[in-house]
Amino acid sequence: MKLKRTHYIGEIDNTFIGKEVIVSGWVLRRRDHGGVIFLDVRDRTDLLQVVFEEGIDPEIYDLADSIRIEYVISVKGVIRRRPPGMENPKISTGEIELVAREVEILNTSKTPPFPMDEDLSEISEAIRLKYRYLEMRALEGLKSFIFRHKVNQIIREFLNNKGFLEIETPFLTKSTPEGARDYLVPSRLYPGKFYALPQSPQLFKQILMIAGVDKYYQIVRCFRDEDLRADRQPEFTQLDIEMSFVEESDIMTVIEELLVYLFEKALNITLETPFPKLSYETALKEYGTDRPDIRFDMKLKDFSLLFKETSFKVFRDVLDSGGIIKGFKAPANFSRKELEDLTKFAQELGAKGLAWIKYDKNASSFEEKWSSPIVKFFESSILGKIEEIFNPLEDFATFFFVADKEEVVNPVLAELRIHLAKKINLIPENKFSFVWITDFPLFEWDEEENRLVSVHHPFTHPKEEDIPLLDIDPLKVKSKAYDIVLNGIEIGGGSIRIHKRELQEKIFKLLNISSEEAQEKFGFLLTALEYGAPPHGGIAFGLDRLIMLMLGKKSIREVIPFPKTQRAQCLLTGAPSEVKIEQILELHLLPGWKKSKT
Ligand code: AMO
Ligand code: AMP
Repeated sequence: MKLKRTHYIGEIDNTFIGKEVIVSGWVLRRRDHGGVIFLDVRDRTDLLQVVFEEGIDPEIYDLADSIRIEYVISVKGVIRRRPPGMENPKISTGEIELVAREVEILNTSKTPPFPMDEDLSEISEAIRLKYRYLEMRALEGLKSFIFRHKVNQIIREFLNNKGFLEIETPFLTKSTPEGARDYLVPSRLYPGKFYALPQSPQLFKQILMIAGVDKYYQIVRCFRDEDLRADRQPEFTQLDIEMSFVEESDIMTVIEELLVYLFEKALNITLETPFPKLSYETALKEYGTDRPDIRFDMKLKDFSLLFKETSFKVFRDVLDSGGIIKGFKAPANFSRKELEDLTKFAQELGAKGLAWIKYDKNASSFEEKWSSPIVKFFESSILGKIEEIFNPLEDFATFFFVADKEEVVNPVLAELRIHLAKKINLIPENKFSFVWITDFPLFEWDEEENRLVSVHHPFTHPKEEDIPLLDIDPLKVKSKAYDIVLNGIEIGGGSIRIHKRELQEKIFKLLNISSEEAQEKFGFLLTALEYGAPPHGGIAFGLDRLIMLMLGKKSIREVIPFPKTQRAQCLLTGAPSEVKIEQILELHLLPGWKKSKT
């Protein structure tokens, strides 16, 4: 390299006028005005217009003439003010340009598969992921990753100042159950044995507490082989935290302080604390989900009692068979077509139908206020009651109801609530609404496996007062677990842990894990619990999700440098890929085959 960079473009401003600089970067655009060549050159920081004028050494001019888009160049020249009228207020170097004196072509480039200076959101994701490095190099392409870097630094700064130690834990380890399938790594040295990639560092962080670390954190990759969605990747990053000698409220306080600090420093947004808390039960009752979006109202209400005497057969049958009727009011009027579409939407989610009643406050009579194909089944006393419950009512409103088993009604209405809020623009932009979900049940019943399973994970402490219920009615036992939800997305979860062996063993037993299996899988934890384990607890954030929300992005793939597709493939490298038979044999994955060959 002859021309060694003197400045990043982002460092150059009007105070550089008249000064000589060397910049290095990629050519975003090229314009040839016959005798004058303009190149827009950019580096990580910014964009600068470079001008090659006639009168320059013809050899250099010819070289400049051969430069194409995305060539890598270094240019030496003098900064000057752009001629009047030629300024570009959209970029920070819009008032200046670099008059080139020398240029060095460091590399050529093929024409990129998509335009590098336009909004790339229209380009198919498959192409963008295959050429991820070009997408990142494109204008603004690195913005999310620079932001992510900043977030990591701020988090570390906060936790370091609070006395947390950043400690690494193994990737080649034993299975850590978090409810997903493990990624397994075959052992070459131990035929037939496998390491598991961690679904989380859960057990190691507990062991670190037993080791006396007291306050731990790690920004750490976790691996889960599960069905993918916009907010799920097979490998993702947790901000993992654990503390000793704490209770639920201590952890919540530290986390709120951390988030206040982070939002202030990274986004200049002041969050109000304490964040609201909703019990799991209330969240399900009012929002139909334990991930409520509380940026807007439209809470669900149970109408089972109100419709107890209704003559509407659909509702009657559901109530008679032990189901419920829940619904909510949308402060808007909908066309017949929209209502049909909403009914289809609810049916696709598993509802048998969607009942709706339109309300027009200013109609001339009480009867005329209400319209719906089923309104004839509802006595005016029922309608009057609805009016009373929702008083004061808007000029136009629509009531939606779903009747079914609770497990059907809640998720359908939860989705419908979000769908409608988007449709009628109820969700305020740029608002960050955090909410803690508390008092989760410790167990739930798994129909398929016909046994209790942990709602959080098996290391979660039951509420003290519910411990006696473990023997009598375990499904009634609540846990010291909490989730943190932001704008309807679960961004973190944690709990106070069990720190006594006997209780841990009892929980394993209730989960139908035999003592042998418990010993085989978690013996190291059970042993460690016998050597002075302090009371402890913690939390883990899905850092990708948090950053996605902070940046207002729709998928975590946008904030992960090299994400996998919905089908868990890396389109850049082609992983997963086949391997040589020798490797398979070496890993003893085909033991029989090997034997017959040797
Ligand atoms: P949990 O399983 O709830 O808890 O995970 C913590 C957070 O990680 C995020 N997350 C994911 N993000 C992207 N892709 C995924 N596949 C994915 N799975 C989970 C979520 C979630 O809230 N050891 C416990 C924490 C603890 O108890 O301290 C744990 O892992 O945002
Ligand atoms: P049907 O008697 O099945 O034609 O339904 C009459 C109306 O009630 C239609 O608008 C259906 O969408 C609605 N409906 C049917 N089943 C349910 C249900 N389980 N919950 C709410 N509405 C329903």
